[in-house]
Amino acid sequence: MDIYAVIGNPVAHSKSPFIHTRFAQQTGRTMRYTTLLAPLDGFEQAVLNFRETGGKGMNITVPFKFEAYTLATRLTDRARAARAVNTFRFEENKEMLGDNTDGIGLVRDIEVNLNFSLKDKHILLMGAGGAASGIILPLLQQQPSLLAVANRTPDKATALQQRFAHHGNIIGGHYQHFIGQHFDLVINATSASLHNECPPIPPDLFHGTALAYDLLYSSTLTPFLEFASTQGVVHLADGAGMLVEQAAESFLLWHGIRPETQLVISQLRDELRHHAS
Ligand code: ATR
Repeated sequence: MDIYAVIGNPVAHSKSPFIHTRFAQQTGRTMRYTTLLAPLDGFEQAVLNFRETGGKGMNITVPFKFEAYTLATRLTDRARAARAVNTFRFEENKEMLGDNTDGIGLVRDIEVNLNFSLKDKHILLMGAGGAASGIILPLLQQQPSLLAVANRTPDKATALQQRFAHHGNIIGGHYQHFIGQHFDLVINATSASLHNECPPIPPDLFHGTALAYDLLYSSTLTPFLEFASTQGVVHLADGAGMLVEQAAESFLLWHGIRPETQLVISQLRDELRHHAS
């Protein structure tokens, strides 16, 4: 039987086995998908061992996406742009193909599942770490009129502006830099929600915002979505849809078939609710 795994540290909480098992059932594949905890200093060895024992592919999660990028022997264009890899496909000739499906997963969730077109929109992306940089190119490819990147440490946001300037209209700065501007979509790509915190959002920022999106998912509203809700934003979304969509793109890379995602998204939400109660 083909085996796959998600590798990370920590990884026990990962919902990827849940999602991929449902995709396999739906498409009639027999495969096993597990979690693999790698020591913080033992990522490469853990990957090579997994491949030696017959592993066909992997998903990579925190904190190894950059190491995976350097370990891959071949990269897709989107992985090269993100400088991060969340999917490996182990090839016959010992090549290790590195892909990044996070950005396309987010775009599909927003455009298809939430029916929100990004074209000509004003978007504010909060955060300038690994999660943010991985989604910038796919967002710019949808031709928003502006992609503003706000970060506590503004230099990181301006560095992203320089890195992606030739792909579209992108501007980086501190949160304060965007006071008085209005955004159709505000995306939280900071890790603030992990610490139950909210980024320092300027007053009135949500004036005119149609959709607030948190890349993290949770059984309850994240502090960012809670705040957006008190500011009158009607459409709130967490990263559960993105998680299923990025998994579907990995599944496509491995099996050549794109599974249906809608049902799995609602199954995942039930699962999250079940574990919270
Ligand atoms: P990830 O891979 O999840 O993006 P990261 O690369 O460590 O993790 O980046 C974390 C991001 O969240 C950074 O943009 C960080 O801001 P700084 O660069 O200024 O540190 C941001 N972040 C984390 N906690 C935050 C908080 N409480 N408020 C605002 N931004 C926060």
